[in-house]
This record gives sequence, C-alpha cells and structure tokens, in this order.
Amino acid sequence: MPAAVLCTLRLPEPAPSLLDAVAEVRVLGRIPETAELCAELAAGVDVLCPQLRDRVTAAVLDAGLPRLRAVCNYAVGVDNVDVAAATARGIVVGNTPGVLTDATADLALGLLLAAARRIREGDAEVRAGRFTGWEPEYLLGLDLGGALLGIVGFGRIGQALARRALACSMRVAYADSGRAAAIDADLAGRVTAMPLTELLEQADAVSLHVPLTVETRHLIDAAALRRMKPSAVLVNTARGAVVDEAALVRALREGWIAAAGLDVYEDEPRLTAGLAECPNAVLAPHLGSATVRTRAAMAELCAGNALAALRGVVPPHCVNPHAWATGGPPSLPG
Ligand code: DGY
Repeated sequence: MPAAVLCTLRLPEPAPSLLDAVAEVRVLGRIPETAELCAELAAGVDVLCPQLRDRVTAAVLDAGLPRLRAVCNYAVGVDNVDVAAATARGIVVGNTPGVLTDATADLALGLLLAAARRIREGDAEVRAGRFTGWEPEYLLGLDLGGALLGIVGFGRIGQALARRALACSMRVAYADSGRAAAIDADLAGRVTAMPLTELLEQADAVSLHVPLTVETRHLIDAAALRRMKPSAVLVNTARGAVVDEAALVRALREGWIAAAGLDVYEDEPRLTAGLAECPNAVLAPHLGSATVRTRAAMAELCAGNALAALRGVVPPHCVNPHAWATGGPPSLPG
C-alpha cells in the first residue's frame, strides 16, 4: 500500500516534488468543512498537511485513525491543531519554525512605521484628493527614534524585531517571564525585561509575539489597552485572538491608544464591526510570512516533517515528540 499524504491547499515547491517522489499526494485545493476533512482522512491517510485555517480537532484526528501518524502544519503556529488530543492518539504534530522569523519581524516593523507615521491615513487623503499641500501640523505622528518599543513574547520573532527597532534608534523592553536565559548574545544589555503591566504603561509602541494559548487569549483586553499611553501604537502579527478586538475598536475610536497595525484578526478573515472604519488602524491580510523565499522554506520544512514521519522518524520540527515516545510510531505503510 503506498503512503498517502493529504494537503488541504497546494503547497509551494519544493513540497510537491519532495512528497510526490515517495507518496500518493492528494491536494483538495480548498479548506474543507470538518465533515469533508473527516471523510478524506477516513479513506486512509498517513500524514495530513493542513493550513492554519484548518481546524484539526479531536474528532478530525479520530477520523484519521488508525492510520494517521502525523499532522504537519504549514505554519509555525499550531493553535489550529488540538495538540493534546494528537498526543493522546499517538499522532505527532510538526510545524515550520525559524524560517519565517525575519519576514514576520519585517512586517511588524512595517506596520509599526505605517501606524506610527500615519501612512495609511495619508494614502487615503492623497487618493481622495484631500491633500491640498504641506502644512505644519498635518497628520503628525510618533517619532520612532528614542521611543520605547515594548515586545510581548521574546522568542525568535520578538528578538528579530528588537534588532530592527534598535537599528531605528528605539529603546526596547520585553515582557516574557520564561525568556531570561534564552536571549541571543547580541541583544544582551541592549534590551530590558519588564513585567507586562509596566511595559504596557511605559511603552510608546507595543508589539505582540506570543503564541495563541489558553493563557494568551485576550491577553490584550480592555484593561490592558487602558493601561497604554494615549499616544501609543499596538502591533499584532501573532494571532488575532491575543487581542480582544471589540475592546480594540473602542480603544481606537475613543483614543485610549493612538493607532494599531494588525496582520491577524480574532475571527479571521472576518473583522469585528467597526474595525475597518477606524482610520487609525492599518490592516494587513495575514502577510507575516508572505514572501516567495519564506513560503518556499516553510514548504521544505513541512515536507521534511512529512517525509520523516513516513519513514517512522519523529519529524525534525515537532511540537509533541513524546507522542511517539511510548511504543514508537504506528506501523509503517507497506
Ligand atoms: C504561521 O506560520 O504561524 C504564520 O502565522 C503564517 O504566516
């Protein structure tokens, strides 16, 4: 029986070439409803390669048993996969860390600049014919030089943004309780650890870089937004639900904060009512990793994870290697 891989959307090269060489690869070409995904898995799939929009629940995993051995997510975030349920069923979960660090940090900096310097509002003014010439107090924004950037979550992407911010002469503080020992040497002494509440109160701009978990859902709620300076900018390239989007709309409308730059949304791709009408919100359509090179690198990692799982080896980028720790991988396809 040949190995079977199911991809919901088509992955960029080199994934198709790598996977086609060793397995029968079925590409749905769309994000399936749960019932359709379950039916596809029930037909016999060894490795599922989903997108961050696919909800891989316990019921979906059950539909793949007994054959499904790995879920290789085409994303670094795995909040769309019930990892605990996968572990309990002996299914490993792979992701694509590292390769999208710089692209995502670039986008966070771009959103920070666009929101701080009101580039979106200015663009709308020019296109609408409302730009009637230079004026001393027209569309004034926030100076980045000397401003304090507060980074919430100081992993790979948070640290990559810190480097970019330091290069813009910003000061950098971070809130990440577990991170003190794992800061890259080049940043040591150039960034300051702060409790989250203090960071929110002191920062001129706050950028979010935490994974979405039970603990981080609505980490930035109305109370957190009210702690921020009225002149502050909020940037989110992590996951939408880290921010209470309804509270953010109020904050932007009522001037609790000055502006926001968002790449991700709480109920993506739907926007909370009122957000699209906020002139002080710069809204990108989840473009953090959207460069040709980054998406190809993600495809290579995703395929590498799938190939390893098909060989019965724990994928090189695996968030729950212990899923196979007891009893090893399920028997290999013939
Ligand atoms: C990820 O990989 O988790 C990103 O959100 C994709 O851009």
